[in-house]
Amino acid sequence: MHPHLFQTTALSLATDLSTTKKIALNSKRNKAQDNSDELDDLSNRFQYNECKDSYWQQEQFSLLFGTRLWDESSEAQKKLLNHLYWVAYYCQIISAEIATIYLNQAAGAGLYSVEDFRVVCDGLDLESSQERAHIAAFKKISEDIEYEVFGERMFTYPMRAYHVDTMIFHNSNRVKEYWRRMQIQAYSVLSTGNAFLGCQYFTVRGLRTLNGKLVQHQLSQHVIDSSDRTSMPIPSQVSFHHFLDESYHFNTSKLISHDVVKSIKAPTAFERKITNKLMLGVQKDHFNFSTAINGIFWYDPALYQTVYRILRSPAFAMDHAAAVQMVKDCFTKESQGMHNSRKTHETAREHYKTYLDKLDFVNPEVKAMSHMGKNTIEHQLKMNQKGFRSFVNGF
Ligand SMILES: [Fe+2]
Ligand SMILES: [Fe+2]
Repeated sequence: MHPHLFQTTALSLATDLSTTKKIALNSKRNKAQDNSDELDDLSNRFQYNECKDSYWQQEQFSLLFGTRLWDESSEAQKKLLNHLYWVAYYCQIISAEIATIYLNQAAGAGLYSVEDFRVVCDGLDLESSQERAHIAAFKKISEDIEYEVFGERMFTYPMRAYHVDTMIFHNSNRVKEYWRRMQIQAYSVLSTGNAFLGCQYFTVRGLRTLNGKLVQHQLSQHVIDSSDRTSMPIPSQVSFHHFLDESYHFNTSKLISHDVVKSIKAPTAFERKITNKLMLGVQKDHFNFSTAINGIFWYDPALYQTVYRILRSPAFAMDHAAAVQMVKDCFTKESQGMHNSRKTHETAREHYKTYLDKLDFVNPEVKAMSHMGKNTIEHQLKMNQKGFRSFVNGF
């Protein structure tokens, strides 16, 4: 008699042999290729001086690429904008990965309550430990750069709790932040005792990682194309090694949200409702596209202060009036940079739609990603102009 016949529950991952095998294989391969040690080594060796004279990724992935600032910058300033993109981008990733570590554990606790989920949970433990290595590398390099160039923080922040902000530079206020924190905490408590909701975290994680994958693949391109990877600037190598780990994380999200979910009980009406709310939450988080950072869905007005401080720093040496005018020209007028970011936003939306397509518990309007699709160049310009008026009044 097969031992699984002794189980008191009809639900078991072991009955879905092909999924179990795929998950075990993905974890095994991830362990074999684990980039944690390389990332530790790279960040320990990082010296800004040694790589500040080269571009770390394609020019279009530079802070405020395709705006007036970019057009008027010297070659050295363009390189700095390219480096600052790296810093800003990975500061967002740090924030998302702090949350990922916690939510991996919460969802793992929920999934462990179903028979045979040990392989999934062990894989998640490895991923969490990889995220800690990723965060350490991004944080060390970003802080070194900001200290050296500005002597103060711009995009970096001290270590913090998982629920503080999953999106930094977003459109928020105290009430919204409090509500958001309550939601994320309530969800994490719910998911520890609920396998279906535990799986849904991976649908969300899959969507978020999907966008990361799109952009990080391009940030790794210089290293992918190079014949001698180890001679490339250290931050480019970090992008590449991180991308390798993340492609396994994406596989995990995909396997759990598309396949494992079939091995557990169909959702109740309540679970469906929460799931659809979660998917709408992703769309709200990814509603904006940022002119400053192509590929991150930040709310531009939240960046004005930081960009202003960068322009006033010795690196750009602008006086108050020139810096304010530059913020105005870069953010409140149509530019190539804004169009590029809009294009990435649209590509991400298309990928999200495909990702959700096969999930029958997701409502049609959520699947169509219509909320995210509501943002346009015109709308974005209006928001940025409105934000500019309060920015100027703030002085
Ligand atoms: Fe990561
Ligand atoms: Fe990850």
